[in-house]
Amino acid sequence: MRCYMMALFSQRIRMDAACFARGALRACLCLALLVSAGCGPSASHGVTLTVLGFNPDSGQALRTDALDEFTRTTGIAVDLIPTGGTSAEQLSQTLRLLNQHASTPDVYLIDVVWPGTLGEHLLDLTRYADQEAHSHIPALLANDTVKGRLVGLPFYVNIGMLYYRTDLLAKYGFAHPPATWDELESMARKIQRGERAAGNRAFWGYVWQGAAYEGLTCNALEWQASFGGGRIIEPDGTVSVNNPHTIRALRMAVRWLGAISPPSVLSYTESDSLNAFRAGNAAFLRYWSAGVDAGSGGALLPAGPHGRAQTMGGFHLAVSRYSVNPRESARLVMYLTGRTVQSRRALTRGRLPTIPQLYQDPALARTFPYAAALETAGAAAWVARPSTIAQSHYAAVSQAYYHTVHQVLSNETSAPEALAALERKLVELTGLHPGAPPE
Ligand code: GLC
Repeated sequence: MRCYMMALFSQRIRMDAACFARGALRACLCLALLVSAGCGPSASHGVTLTVLGFNPDSGQALRTDALDEFTRTTGIAVDLIPTGGTSAEQLSQTLRLLNQHASTPDVYLIDVVWPGTLGEHLLDLTRYADQEAHSHIPALLANDTVKGRLVGLPFYVNIGMLYYRTDLLAKYGFAHPPATWDELESMARKIQRGERAAGNRAFWGYVWQGAAYEGLTCNALEWQASFGGGRIIEPDGTVSVNNPHTIRALRMAVRWLGAISPPSVLSYTESDSLNAFRAGNAAFLRYWSAGVDAGSGGALLPAGPHGRAQTMGGFHLAVSRYSVNPRESARLVMYLTGRTVQSRRALTRGRLPTIPQLYQDPALARTFPYAAALETAGAAAWVARPSTIAQSHYAAVSQAYYHTVHQVLSNETSAPEALAALERKLVELTGLHPGAPPE
């Protein structure tokens, strides 16, 4: 983890010296701005902010972790509007509100892939950003910068991981989690056969997120990137999805269906796959870096012929441009995304921080049982969805991709035919050019 983080941050470190003088000047200007804006706690007393995006459980956790303290110290109350559903459902709810120029909610929890889609409706946080707001992973700050405006700040990172039943690995004589997809397949087959013979007819080797939604984009991107199939659209704007490596990767997943993964995995979102694993009905689970109980093993996803690949997900916080409390809202976002809250939530909730320096805390390494594995992953293993390059087209790009993958997995169409059609569609949607993924 630190290796990768360090690579990502080194650019920042090099910039730091040069930025110091500018930073000091900016800090003075900010201070002057804040003083003139009447930033003292009393100025905000009586304001109630509303936040959309947390489900009831995570909202309750946030209250204990941070919101109670925020209200105590600032006098600003915070109402949480309970939110549910998949990332796509939340996106359409958010878009509906913003398209209506609704003045509430003030603050939105947004998926890392949404800034390009929502950017024009979000407040530019640049004038409110303090020194700490600039200390996030530079790639994530770049992700949140749309047409030169800082439209969000990173709250936590999610990374695709493989979870496994340590008891079953031991029972079937496996000393390590699988290092490659082939190994995963053969281990899953063996454990599944044994557990079914022992009486659990509902047992499967491997569960993941196969419903036609954003989660499938994340899963399939991991397969194809680990086969050398690229990132759907490359950062340089090449629409690269139609290639033999991606075809091979999809064929691998087709082979899993009914063999080591239940056919119903094609309707699984995160919660379905987690439930199957927690109920004791699966040996392996693909899930995100936060959220699986301690006790199960966590490892990097297996490697394909091209190496390992794990999708980077996560959530950010943004302020609506239509909020009547922009200053208070920005203050809440700064506080929640800042070091104190991120560090607290890393240790107590397993949320991976977006501020590199926090990874130097030994307590954090102890909290993440798989931190050592993450440390050894090269930067190439961390795959971002093409949301920055696709900008406001990302939702449509991802939808076209996951529908295509879903059709291939459902045997409605062959991978070569489906990918050729997808390439045409993505070119039409984005105006970009087709080409091969990088070697
Ligand atoms: C996780 C990720 C998010 C992703 C979603 C897909 O919540 O953090 O980035 O879009 O899963 O289901």
